[in-house]
Amino acid sequence: MELEFKLASLEDIDGVLALHRKYQLATIAEEDKPDGFVTTAFTREQLTQLIEQEQGLTVATHEGQVVAYVMAASWQFWSGWPIFAYMIAQLPTLTYAGRQLSTTNSYQYGPICIDKPHRGSGVLERIFDFSRAQMAVRYPVLVTFINRINTRSYAAHTQKLGLEVIREFELNGNQYYELAYDTSK
Ligand SMILES: CC(C)(COP(=O)(O)OP(=O)(O)OC[C@H]1O[C@@H](n2cnc3c(N)ncnc32)[C@H](O)[C@@H]1OP(=O)(O)O)[C@@H](O)C(=O)NCCC(=O)NCCS
Repeated sequence: MELEFKLASLEDIDGVLALHRKYQLATIAEEDKPDGFVTTAFTREQLTQLIEQEQGLTVATHEGQVVAYVMAASWQFWSGWPIFAYMIAQLPTLTYAGRQLSTTNSYQYGPICIDKPHRGSGVLERIFDFSRAQMAVRYPVLVTFINRINTRSYAAHTQKLGLEVIREFELNGNQYYELAYDTSK
């Protein structure tokens, strides 16, 4: 299948929101959950800001349809969500690749979401790398979290993409891994 990878523009928001709804915790079908889910909820306004102020939304399209997305942005962008406020507060206690982490030397990657028919096909590696290359110009370190029960995402990120666990934390009864990656790799 011929896919196009690009930074999203405002016309892609409807497609991103449709894909997001399919796999976000509040709206995902029960049978899809074992193959991963997205935690964070988004509004149209937040995606507009992500595109216009952060150049932080990457999409893969197939015949004009959004079949995958990756979000990536400054900590400043994410700071309104409680889980990210918590991660920001902890950043200075963490080191990765010889650096004490901060909101200036790292950014928050994710969520990532790939529509079911396109999983396991290499879209993961391609969309991750497209987003990484965009952000590498601004930040040396990528930081993200994965819910411990999202075993597919954990396998994909640690085994296929090479992200490394830098700590584990618990928030509101959920157990999370926090991971990092050197964007110059
Ligand atoms: C997470 C996600 C982006 C990974 O992309 P993907 O195309 O599915 O990844 P791949 O299939 O290439 O790799 C996943 C690996 O996990 C393994 N795997 C598959 N299902 C699994 C499961 N239920 N539990 C654990 N591992 C699983 C696969 O075997 C595969 O490794 P392999 O190819 O070496 O065998 C995609 O599944 C997705 O969008 N899921 C829904 C949303 C989501 O969870 N986003 C991440 C939030 S942190």
